[in-house]
Amino acid sequence: MQKKLDSKSLAQTLFDQCGSILLHPAFDKMKSYCQHGDFTTYDHVLAVTFYCLKHGQRKKGVDLDVLLPAALLHDYFLYDWHDEHHPEHHATQHAYYASINALREFDIPHDAVRAILTHMYPLPFHRVPKGKEAWMLWHYDKVSAFRETFGGHPFTKERKELEELIQKARQK
Ligand SMILES: [Fe+2]
Ligand SMILES: [Fe+2]
Repeated sequence: MQKKLDSKSLAQTLFDQCGSILLHPAFDKMKSYCQHGDFTTYDHVLAVTFYCLKHGQRKKGVDLDVLLPAALLHDYFLYDWHDEHHPEHHATQHAYYASINALREFDIPHDAVRAILTHMYPLPFHRVPKGKEAWMLWHYDKVSAFRETFGGHPFTKERKELEELIQKARQK
């Protein structure tokens, strides 16, 4: 088990592990869509990812190379689900749309794609999370959505640190 990381180290670890996703222009598309309250989908996936990293890095046998890309891209469905013209069956199908979009634009492990696909279990019932990483994503997605809906802004400091790292890397 690793020791608890401070906000700077959490941001740096995420950047070191997933810089290629975070710096990819396609990843920024999620900034255009509202998720919960004043949270964009981009804000939401980063909050979920920080939860997963914070708890996952301290748990034995959790593969961060699977967990972190899955968390970053789990809601990569690319539309505003509050818009009345969004694709049908959002609740049961957006995990599928996200997995297809993620596969199309990013090079991520098969188990990460599978974790994305099952993150809305039991919607639908037959897509059951498999493995620690998929269950962690499933769990922290709910924790984060609950916190965001009721006005919390989880990982504000970590977000600030991460944004600085992204900006610095883009200026190079
Ligand atoms: Fe989702
Ligand atoms: Fe989510």
